[in-house]
Amino acid sequence: MSQPDRGLFISFEGPEGAGKSTQIAHLLRHLESESVPHTVTREPGGTPLGTRVREVLLDPELTIDPLPEFLLYSASRAQLVTNVIRPALGRGEVVVCDRYADSSLAYQGFGRGLNAGLLRGITAAATGGLWPDLTVLLDLDPVIGLERAARRGQPDRLEQADLTFHQRLRQGFLKLAEAEAERFLVLDATLDEADLEKTIWEAVQSRLPASEI
Ligand SMILES: Nc1ncnc2c1ncn2[C@@H]1O[C@H](COP(=O)(O)OP(=O)(O)OP(=O)(O)O)[C@@H](O)[C@H]1O
Ligand SMILES: [Mg+2]
Repeated sequence: MSQPDRGLFISFEGPEGAGKSTQIAHLLRHLESESVPHTVTREPGGTPLGTRVREVLLDPELTIDPLPEFLLYSASRAQLVTNVIRPALGRGEVVVCDRYADSSLAYQGFGRGLNAGLLRGITAAATGGLWPDLTVLLDLDPVIGLERAARRGQPDRLEQADLTFHQRLRQGFLKLAEAEAERFLVLDATLDEADLEKTIWEAVQSRLPASEI
């Protein structure tokens, strides 16, 4: 499937507690105040299937091996691309996604050790080759991330994983960003919320089609 020729696809990546939801909320406020048509969604989730898959993936009572875990994320992603992301891009909208395929490459690849070629092949099939135009990576020391997340209450299954895993994850995200420097905007997640907001909005504005600013 070819890339849609309109719209702008933005993903937010980074570990738990990095500030993705916080910054997405700021970005949505900017898009709303500039009347830029947009759609916001998240992974896993975003469709009725994705919501059910999300419940399974985040259930602390389940033990899920890395490969089925990745396939569940991919199932959610495939449905999301077909039902939500491509239609919105086709309408010329800005699509903001809280996590996308980079999370699978980082978590199940660098974190859990699944083969990168296998992950990329299945991801290509699931997404029809659709990658974001801009990926905001909020980079954070895992110790700070886990502290932030723990302050918000009950840890979910991912948050209970060990620190080494989170360190591999961080390095994985950074390697992905290094390999595609033009797509990624890597930001230090310990910076002031307002400074991050400003940098992200400037990056988005510079990529908006002229008709939308
Ligand atoms: N720049 C920042 N500096 C300090 N604290 C922050 C910053 N941004 C967000 N926080 C705080 O960190 C916590 C986690 O933020 P947030 O929920 O946005 O992270 P997240 O990346 O969406 O996490 P998750 O992956 O678990 O959904 C919140 O308590 C939030 O107030
Ligand atoms: Mg969040």
